[in-house]
Amino acid sequence: MEAAIGIIGGSGLYELDGFEKAEERVITTPFGEPSDALVGGTFAGRQVWFLPRHGRGHRILPHEINHRANLWALRSLGVRWVICVTAVGSLKEQYHPRDVVLPDQYFDRTSRREHHTFFGRGIAAHIAFAEPVSCGLRGILRESATETGCRVHDRGTYVNMDGPAFSTRAESEVNRKLGFDVIGMTNLPEAKLAREAEIALATLAMVTDYDCWKTDEEAVTAESVIAHLHANVAAAKRVLAAAIPRIPQMADWPEHSALEGAIMTARHLWPQQ
Ligand code: ADE
Repeated sequence: MEAAIGIIGGSGLYELDGFEKAEERVITTPFGEPSDALVGGTFAGRQVWFLPRHGRGHRILPHEINHRANLWALRSLGVRWVICVTAVGSLKEQYHPRDVVLPDQYFDRTSRREHHTFFGRGIAAHIAFAEPVSCGLRGILRESATETGCRVHDRGTYVNMDGPAFSTRAESEVNRKLGFDVIGMTNLPEAKLAREAEIALATLAMVTDYDCWKTDEEAVTAESVIAHLHANVAAAKRVLAAAIPRIPQMADWPEHSALEGAIMTARHLWPQQ
């Protein structure tokens, strides 16, 4: 099976244009249903599979997303690189709405962690996660976002809250004091599961708001998020079009053999390619 590229679309990004030989696959996984049917096709000669994490039309809230089914479905289609597109709140003055941040770290403030691993139920494994983002794929996103005219901030810590409510001001201020860069509700479980699935992952985090710490700005509302988010979608599509042709064909990066350092009973989870 050819090593494919997965794109997980966030709020506002429910489809990708420019696919050749487009097809739709409804996939059932041992963990249940993914957020939607996966849409695949060739783009710049590469096999790409697209999945909107909130479902088309945005039906699924962050705490309802079946991340395990999403990552399992992508991996079952031969995906070995995943680019996540995601809306985030800025926790730093210098990250403005519509800027791109490329996180290289996460901080976990989620509470459904048993849903954030493929392991358990007899498969005992602990995977290294000190460097949760693929450095190679992040570099490709940096080049592609810069080339397509985005204001790009390379590196940063993404703090993952549960949602669906946004933070209180006290929470937002604590997150800032701890030095986190951006906040979101979805991306950390994707990064954990991708690592377990030996998929190289990087994230295009697009700022929609200043959360609620910046009292000289309007506190975050769904309306203000959606306005910036629509502007970010066109930019994300340009970045993806520039990034896909840069991704190598061979899945031979360190992330592609992440289970080698983990307990061996886990290896049979994925077909060997
Ligand atoms: N997604 C976009 N903006 C956000 C914020 N301020 N907090 C959490 N998730 C977000």
